Amino acid sequence: MDKEQRLKVAVQKTGRLTDHSLDLLVRCGLKYSRGKDQLLCYGENMPLDVLLVRDDDIPDLVQEDVCDLGIVGRNVVEEKRLGFLARGHAPLFEEMQPLDFGRCRLAIAVPDDLPYRGPRDLNGRRIATTYPHILGRWLATQEIAAEVVVLSGAVEIAPRLGRADLICDLVSTGSTLQANHLREVETVLESQAMLIRTPVPLPPAKDEWLRRLLLRIDGVQQVKESKYIMLHAPRAALGEIRRLLPGSEYPTVIPLEGSADKVAVHAVCRENVFWETLEGLKAAGASAVLVLPVEKMLA
Ligand code: PRP
Ligand code: ZN
Repeated sequence: MDKEQRLKVAVQKTGRLTDHSLDLLVRCGLKYSRGKDQLLCYGENMPLDVLLVRDDDIPDLVQEDVCDLGIVGRNVVEEKRLGFLARGHAPLFEEMQPLDFGRCRLAIAVPDDLPYRGPRDLNGRRIATTYPHILGRWLATQEIAAEVVVLSGAVEIAPRLGRADLICDLVSTGSTLQANHLREVETVLESQAMLIRTPVPLPPAKDEWLRRLLLRIDGVQQVKESKYIMLHAPRAALGEIRRLLPGSEYPTVIPLEGSADKVAVHAVCRENVFWETLEGLKAAGASAVLVLPVEKMLA
């Protein structure tokens, strides 16, 4: 297949989304080899290549049609989008769907020794951030007049350097804040990984692969928490047992050879099955309970 027929996906080079993004593509069936420069992953069994880049560059690469798709945090997408709108033009990349990893939040954090009672305390303060547009919008909706100090990185040390009074930055585990004696006081934006695409229509072969990829992504996301559960149960307990099976609509009920009152129940549970559930099932009369991971699912 010639070069123009290969889907190009931009993925964060190093950071919180890198491993999950590559893992998602692998679960979608991709086998890849890394180029010498380590920046291109060449798809060996699918016409799909991965470009490893800085996450902040991903919306631009997709916007400019250098890449067809991008996997990037909603925080980056939203900041770019608001930036475009502020300059009077609409962003051209399209937001396709949220992916279930990379959860974090853009939050306001204040030094441990700074008292904080509510958003009003932000009036007149200097807030350091690399997300001026998202922060600006939040401040406007809260009707707060604060000074936004735009930095390109190392936001967490700005208060100590005297460049700002407090910060607005991404928080995931909270360890960066803790290490810098800051505490989180407001959530400005909830974020997670997203799939974005070029506004340019794709040639049919590429479009077909995109369609297949989207279906596979759905499949991967669906099975993540899913379990296949098998058990034996007295017929009389079926109602109670169905009620206990988390997120399963239509269990298969099979008669057991040589037993008039017992049946086998097989079900796909769309949620994780915890020990508590198993204990509940046993108490309801279930026996021979098996819980298996679901590897692939195609609705
Ligand atoms: C964010 C943020 C903090 C860190 C917080 O940076 O700027 O440094 O993550 O995470 P924690 O709460 O788990 O300590 P990120 O790694 O996303 O890099 P970037 O913003 O420069 O892309
Ligand atoms: Zn970044």
